[in-house]
Amino acid sequence: MDCTQAIRARRSIRRFKPGASVPKEDVETMLEAAMMAPSACNARPWEFFVAENPEIKEKLRAAHPYASMLEDASLAIVACARPEDQTGVCEGYWPLDCGAAVENLLLQAAALGYGTCWCGCWPAMDRVEAIQAILNTQSVPAALIAVGVPDESPEARGGYDPGKVTWLT
Ligand SMILES: Cc1cc2nc3c(=O)[nH]c(=O)nc-3n(C[C@H](O)[C@H](O)[C@H](O)COP(=O)(O)O)c2cc1C
Repeated sequence: MDCTQAIRARRSIRRFKPGASVPKEDVETMLEAAMMAPSACNARPWEFFVAENPEIKEKLRAAHPYASMLEDASLAIVACARPEDQTGVCEGYWPLDCGAAVENLLLQAAALGYGTCWCGCWPAMDRVEAIQAILNTQSVPAALIAVGVPDESPEARGGYDPGKVTWLT
C-alpha cells in the first residue's frame, strides 16, 4: 500500500483480533516512521513506550476513560513528549511534533495492514499523570495508541471539504 492509499484507508480501529501478535520488526518499522516525522529544529522531542505485557496494557487501559479497545489490542504504544529537549526559538512546539510523529506511526501501521486507535492523553492532565505513574517517567504522554490486527473494517471516507480551503489569488 502506498502513502496515498494508506492515508485514505486509515480509520480508527476499536475491535481487534484477540491473541494476535505483531512481530517486533513491524513495531520497529512503525516507530521508525514516527521518528522520521518533522520536528521544530529537528529536536525530536519524543520517546515511546511499548507495552505488550497484558498486565501493563490493562493498567494503561484503566488509566484512560476512552481506551477500552486496548483489551484486545496486541500492544499499546505511548508516545511521550520531552518538552525539555526543545530550547530557544524551538521551545513549545512539542505538541505539534508529537502529533506529526503519531500520525506517521498510524499511517505506517495501516500500510502494514494493522489497525490503530489514537487515544488522546495530553492536555487531559488526569490521564497524563496516571500514565506517567504507570510508566515511571516525567515525559508527557501525548497519545496512547492501540495497535493490533483489525477485527472490523470501517469504510474509508472522503475528507476533502472545499469549504475549509481559501485559494488566495
Ligand atoms: C487527539 C486525538 C484524540 C483521540 N482520542 C480518542 C480516544 O480517547 N478514544 C478513541 O476511541 N478515539 C480517539 N480518537 C480517535 C478519533 O475519535 C477519530 O480519529 C475520529 O473520530 C475520526 O475517525 P477515524 O480516525 O476513523 O478517521 C482521537 C483522535 C485524536 C486525533
